[in-house]
Amino acid sequence: MKGHQTESVPVVTIDGPSGTGKGTIARIVADRLGWNLLDSGALYRLLALAAQTRSIALDNVSELVKLASGLDVQFMPTKNGETEIFLDGEEVSPSIRTEEAGNNASKVAALGEVRAALVDRQHAFRVRPGLVADGRDMGTVIFPDACLKIYLTASAEERAKRRHKQLKEKGLNVNLLDLSREISERDDRDASRKVAPLKPATDAEIIDTSDIGVDEVVDRVNILLEKYT
Ligand code: C5P
Repeated sequence: MKGHQTESVPVVTIDGPSGTGKGTIARIVADRLGWNLLDSGALYRLLALAAQTRSIALDNVSELVKLASGLDVQFMPTKNGETEIFLDGEEVSPSIRTEEAGNNASKVAALGEVRAALVDRQHAFRVRPGLVADGRDMGTVIFPDACLKIYLTASAEERAKRRHKQLKEKGLNVNLLDLSREISERDDRDASRKVAPLKPATDAEIIDTSDIGVDEVVDRVNILLEKYT
């Protein structure tokens, strides 16, 4: 047993680029199984926000590592199925969900030492009865022994449209073309970084969500769960 990580606690990983529906699917699967949920992207978003609050540059590795090790974060599930996220005791959920926060997250996430400083924190989510982990490197690096690894993809155009709709629903007005450009910049950075780049694990099940809705993705995941768990 390594800290909280026990190989006997099952993990399902859901990786992929932004706008593929990872977060939604991960939550539905975790609810259905009654398992814990790790939104690993939120950790990188929180770290970037904490750095900005303290005027730490997003490439200052030693300060970011210190910050990552002592990050005071809390994930509180709400009655309506959402999660409220707290940084230093303050609710920050809306401020970490902006495109700018996503972009900043991907800058700190490109730094290997920073990633290493967040590994134990992610392993700590692996508690009974099981864990559904959503991110970019859940199946490749953080939980390589997961019982089921899913990699969601979708066309860049469809992903931009989805993000646009999501942001609009949150009252954020963004231009679709700007958004497409930002998303592709972020994907390029995530896929081309040296450490834990965005890519499917060799044993991942790939689901292209471009032309299918949430219900169908969940149905496919359920079939895979029957097979692997
Ligand atoms: O999933 P989300 O959009 O919240 O992730 C924000 C950013 O955090 C990603 O673009 C990526 O750079 C980084 N990330 C990562 N590894 C993860 C999860 C997120 O590098 N496991």
